Amino acid sequence: MDARLQRLADLLQNWAGQWFPPGRHADLARSLEKFASQVDAQGDWERALEILEANPSAAMRQSVLQEVLVGETYFFRDPQLWQSLRLEIIPALLEAKSSESSLSIWSLGCSSGEEPYGVALYLAHYFPQLINWRINIWASDISSVALERAKAGLYGERSMRLVPPELRRRWFTKVPQGWQIAAPLRQRVHWQEQNLCAADPPLLEGRQWDLILCRNVLIYLQPHLLGGTVERLGSKLNPQGWLILAPMEIPLHLPANLRLEQTKSQLLALRPSLKPKLEPSVAPLSPPLTPAPAPKALEEPSAPSPLGPPTLERAQASAQRAQRLADSGQLQEALWEAINSVDTCQTFIGGWLSLALVQGELELYEEALDSLQKALYLDPQSPCTYLYLTRILHTLHDPQYQRYQTIFFQLVQTLPDSAPLPYGWGLQVGEAKELLRTLTS
Ligand SMILES: C[S@@+](CC[C@H](N)C(=O)[O-])C[C@H]1O[C@@H](n2cnc3c(N)ncnc32)[C@H](O)[C@@H]1O
Repeated sequence: MDARLQRLADLLQNWAGQWFPPGRHADLARSLEKFASQVDAQGDWERALEILEANPSAAMRQSVLQEVLVGETYFFRDPQLWQSLRLEIIPALLEAKSSESSLSIWSLGCSSGEEPYGVALYLAHYFPQLINWRINIWASDISSVALERAKAGLYGERSMRLVPPELRRRWFTKVPQGWQIAAPLRQRVHWQEQNLCAADPPLLEGRQWDLILCRNVLIYLQPHLLGGTVERLGSKLNPQGWLILAPMEIPLHLPANLRLEQTKSQLLALRPSLKPKLEPSVAPLSPPLTPAPAPKALEEPSAPSPLGPPTLERAQASAQRAQRLADSGQLQEALWEAINSVDTCQTFIGGWLSLALVQGELELYEEALDSLQKALYLDPQSPCTYLYLTRILHTLHDPQYQRYQTIFFQLVQTLPDSAPLPYGWGLQVGEAKELLRTLTS
């Protein structure tokens, strides 16, 4: 990277924990160019950097950050989350907090506000019995511009695309600029500008939360910050609390204060540990090379059951057939076989990996990522999962691919090149390494 862009990347890392893999370098250049013109130093990046490195005002920092922060959001993004909130998480919290009649909810990295307003809307619409409860909904973001937008509560069709007509009618008003969320919901949310990576974020002080949503924020941070940040958020949960990250943001090795729970709607959530673990937490990018035990909830099906081994064998046979069909170009048939495999045995990682492979070939990338998330949950140490994640995210130009590529190489570093890649359907470790090197060079 250009040394001047590296200096800007270092500043943004110090101010806001931001991570700049090659895919984000163009954002840096755009940001520096824009800032240079704002301080009458058009084209003079050196001068612009001197100002930023000296003692920049808060407004200057915001201006530079604005060009690099990714604020993509919309109402009810990720249906699994909203279904889980409505059917499981909020009802569980109502029960747990019934003696206090209070709920405290924090949406971190809220961008233009769709997420916290969505929660306020759900509580008002689906839980009218909460009328006399003390409900605190806080929303924070590092971007002052995003927060100003959020406070206005005005949204275009892009943000509204998943809002069902019934909820639109009841909780939004059509205005010339788009849709405005109802005043009682606007009043319900408190906003705060806050940097998640600051040493002492004020919202963390002294408060405990029942629900923390921090989704699609950590993926933009330096990988080494993830474990500590998640641990810090976990320490702010009430004993019955929930911490919800985006699936890709859940550290491969959880801090000792958190455990993973899967809701019936298949959402992966973090909850306070029932009892403290004895071993220290491990940085997310340094997975141990010995396979981790499968998560508790998924160990159970391997206990003797009437459908025990034959079920697994049937799933394996389907996955193999899916693979052969995919090899011969019969992708639709391969897809059905792979679906059959995971339907037969949900805890067979090979089924999810074949499904992801076929979905990837069919360019069903979102679905493939979903299958890989399942594989990751079953075994966070399977190199094949990282191989496929790298391929798909690279195809999607998502800079996250680098993180998974690094993990893949760490996981296979002690394996000989001639060894078969587990669940790699005949692919050898050396061939898989070469594939990734060629793909990403
Ligand atoms: C992609 S949006 C996520 C919005 C919403 N949570 C969602 O999932 O739809 C990411 C947000 O994180 C914010 N962000 C990035 N780094 C941050 C930091 N260090 N502290 C607080 N917010 C940050 C950005 O300003 C942006 O609004």
